[in-house]
Amino acid sequence: MRLDVLLTLGELVPGELAERTVVVLDVLRASSSIVEALASGARTLYPVGTIEEAIRLANTLGRDQTLLAGERKALPIEGFDLGNSPVEFTSERLSGRMVVMSTTNGTLALAAASAGGRVTVGSWLNFQAVVDDIVRSGAEPVFLCAGRDRAFGLEDAVCAGQLAAAVMAARPDDTWELNDGARAAIALAEAYPDPAAMFPQTTAGRAIIDAGLGDDLAYCAQRDLRDVLPVLQDRQITVAPPAPAAS
Ligand code: MLT
Repeated sequence: MRLDVLLTLGELVPGELAERTVVVLDVLRASSSIVEALASGARTLYPVGTIEEAIRLANTLGRDQTLLAGERKALPIEGFDLGNSPVEFTSERLSGRMVVMSTTNGTLALAAASAGGRVTVGSWLNFQAVVDDIVRSGAEPVFLCAGRDRAFGLEDAVCAGQLAAAVMAARPDDTWELNDGARAAIALAEAYPDPAAMFPQTTAGRAIIDAGLGDDLAYCAQRDLRDVLPVLQDRQITVAPPAPAAS
């Protein structure tokens, strides 16, 4: 059984993902915000690349039914309803609504992953839901790290390593073939066991602190706060029905 970690978007080869479950990781903060949005009852979430595209899509969907969310340089986008702080994505604001989201790295990674056979969104907030889906389906996972500005991001690699270790521990009878990125991510996960302590040391974490949003780091470090698995299909993200059990 293959298990791969792509530490940057540059490693991704779309043609190699068609039969794989791709788990997109942008734990600071798009993945975490997407998990929160769906856990709070959002009907669906559309990740888009540009601000203009987001506004156009929200108007097409019906602006009164749709919330605009996202960030540039970690800060909320002018005219949008929400930024990219997971704590903003409450059921009072989200329940029954559609969300159009544009962020610097996360929505780029989601677009890159769309070639995957099954694309899910992972974070510490829904850690076990990600592991359970892979174990139940018998999938050969690819953990795709969004990183930052297409460069390596320690926070996503550590999450990938912890998820990889948890999947292999849950399927001990499988013989795993790991790529170098997976071996590196697992080693990093052992070196940084506590995301709350690691986040402020990262470039992404420091940028969020510098934007005055440092409370987001502790929020994004909460393991298994939510039991939802967001799945990307046909350019929209919804809560996944349980994956079919491995035959
Ligand atoms: C994002 O796309 O989530 C970015 O990585 C950072 C942020 O949320 O400020």
